[in-house]
Amino acid sequence: MATAPRLEIENLHCAFGGVEVVQGISLTVEGGDVLCLLGPSGCGKSTTLRTIAGLEDISSGEIRIDGQVVTRGGYTLPPEHRGVGLIFQDFALFPHLTVAENISYGLRASRSEKAHRVDELLERVHLSHHRQSYAHELSGGEQQRVALARALAPRPRVMLMDEPFSGLDNRLRDGIRDHTLQVLKDEDTAVVLVTHEPEEAMRMADQIALMRNGSIVQQGAPYNIYNSPADRAAAAFFSDINVIEAVVNGALAETPFGQFLAPGQPDGTKVDIVIRPQHLRIDFDRAGQGPHPTSEDGTPARAEVIRSRFVGKESLVEFLVHEGLVMTATVPNVFLPKPGTVMWLAIRRDRCFVFPRKP
Ligand SMILES: Nc1ncnc2c1ncn2[C@@H]1O[C@H](COP(=O)(O)OP(=O)(O)O)[C@@H](O)[C@H]1O
Ligand SMILES: [Mg+2]
Repeated sequence: MATAPRLEIENLHCAFGGVEVVQGISLTVEGGDVLCLLGPSGCGKSTTLRTIAGLEDISSGEIRIDGQVVTRGGYTLPPEHRGVGLIFQDFALFPHLTVAENISYGLRASRSEKAHRVDELLERVHLSHHRQSYAHELSGGEQQRVALARALAPRPRVMLMDEPFSGLDNRLRDGIRDHTLQVLKDEDTAVVLVTHEPEEAMRMADQIALMRNGSIVQQGAPYNIYNSPADRAAAAFFSDINVIEAVVNGALAETPFGQFLAPGQPDGTKVDIVIRPQHLRIDFDRAGQGPHPTSEDGTPARAEVIRSRFVGKESLVEFLVHEGLVMTATVPNVFLPKPGTVMWLAIRRDRCFVFPRKP
């Protein structure tokens, strides 16, 4: 018999005072994998996480861990019997206990087993030298690592993390994220990580479930979600976007950048052609001429620089293509053409998305 997935959620619904905030979520996470629930504030991420923990009642649906039903209409296994670990933004370490005591606090095992597990985890989170320290003697990053070790101590089958890095100093965060990820992978736990930051989701996740208004709008590997967004809002969640409005005629949308394929869209359909700033191609003006049209890049359009700014590792250049159409390009390093400079923009056909416009 094939083994059941570590965590399975089937058609989960959850409501507060008659208002559905989780509307039919289904997902699967295997041991050793990280699934990120990603979406704007209020879309239902934390509520979904809390139902997995058993901290929130559901209206309907089912949650299984290793094939065992832990929540189903009317039945709910208490949180402490689910084999789940929890880490929230507020690490909430016990101030009167040492690091080692914090980690062993929830462990039910013999003294020697506890000591062994604490040693192993202290080593794993690089805190063996802080075994006898108290929370107030540790930095934010170190406290986060203690919280991680404490949550991992009972070998949870599923680790639930709600914005666990958002309280940390910016400079430290990347290193702590990478280290946390490594520790979680080594423990082979299934991880559900809640975040509203796309960069964090891209960095941490094997799978991203992009949420909006209590539903998953798209699920997949970070690469797939970034490169094949389900709609304009999904594209816009990961980066700034440029949008060109057009109308379909004969399955084609006509724009200053040439024609775009709009297969299956009836004549008269309004579409948005979406392109990320780093995927605009910029060419110099050659005596009033731009580069020749190609099938890959379509027809280049003449554009005038409005503003250029250097923002760190790249430059942002704003262009006026025509009255009412401003487009922004990002260019690596320093590229600061003067306002009024004429250039030519092109849109790589394999980098743009064509979506029917939503009312
Ligand atoms: N205990 C609660 N009682 C009533 N409404 C709640 C409760 N918890 C969350 N909500 C509402 O449910 C919606 C989803 O909240 P939440 O799951 O916390 O979103 P997220 O974590 O994505 O920011 C929000 O509109 C929030 O106000
Ligand atoms: Mg939340």
